[in-house]
Amino acid sequence: MSIASDALREEVRERYARSALAVTEGAGGCGCGSDLCCGADDPAGFGEALYTAEQRGELPEAAALASLGCGNPTTVAELREGEVVLDLGSGGGIDVILSAKRVGPTGLAFGLDMTEEMLALARANAAAAGIANAIFLKGVIEAVPLPAHSVDVVISNCVVNLSVDKPAALAEIARVLKPGGRIGISDVVAEDHLRPEQRAERGSYVGCIAGALSRSEYEEGLAAVGLEDVSVDFTHRVADGMHGAIVKARKPINHLEA
Ligand SMILES: C[S@@+](CC[C@H](N)C(=O)[O-])C[C@H]1O[C@@H](n2cnc3c(N)ncnc32)[C@H](O)[C@@H]1O
Repeated sequence: MSIASDALREEVRERYARSALAVTEGAGGCGCGSDLCCGADDPAGFGEALYTAEQRGELPEAAALASLGCGNPTTVAELREGEVVLDLGSGGGIDVILSAKRVGPTGLAFGLDMTEEMLALARANAAAAGIANAIFLKGVIEAVPLPAHSVDVVISNCVVNLSVDKPAALAEIARVLKPGGRIGISDVVAEDHLRPEQRAERGSYVGCIAGALSRSEYEEGLAAVGLEDVSVDFTHRVADGMHGAIVKARKPINHLEA
């Protein structure tokens, strides 16, 4: 990675560490209205409001407060009992907790995050929710610390846009999925006509806007790592020409490793 990419990743890590500490100290999520984190440029379309009242009722208050996503990937992924789920950029643990409940005691939910403060918050939230089948791992989504073919479902909520090496992150998704495995990802996605500099005019990188892929870039990136049945569906507007989106794809049974 370049020095510029290293610096950008460190800026992301530092901002989300502050966000986790704000929740831990009882100050609420990302300090919306500041430039702290995802949704800070325009909080509508981000956070706990994207979950049903029933789901919020299943969560400790701090987990809901820490929600910084732009969708609700657990409903998209249609999780089943016994499955192994991996949440890329698990933050305060909201989607890991909901996933662990869906897959039940015979299943397992992994959360992966690079920010120590977020991992501490997520572990505390999972313990408060009485979750025994969740494991939180420290690492980056561009080098997932899990073996190949070990996961049934990869979910993620507003994190791929923050990656400084998106081809590597998408390749890791394909690597860890079992043949026949699937993804259900929520992310910010730009309309195809918006050039990267136009995306950057609409919001910051740490605010989950400037780093967003376009719909075609997402589709082509997932196809390039060998996934099929790719779809990118816009769900709600988050900025001019930019949307919360549901991204789905499947790993073929006879997938050829890159
Ligand atoms: C916008 S928040 C979303 C958190 C969570 N998914 C949610 O819905 O509340 C982004 C999270 O991804 C983590 N993150 C960002 N880039 C990452 C990377 N390259 N590898 C691992 N974690 C990353 C941050 O530390 C932060 O916890």
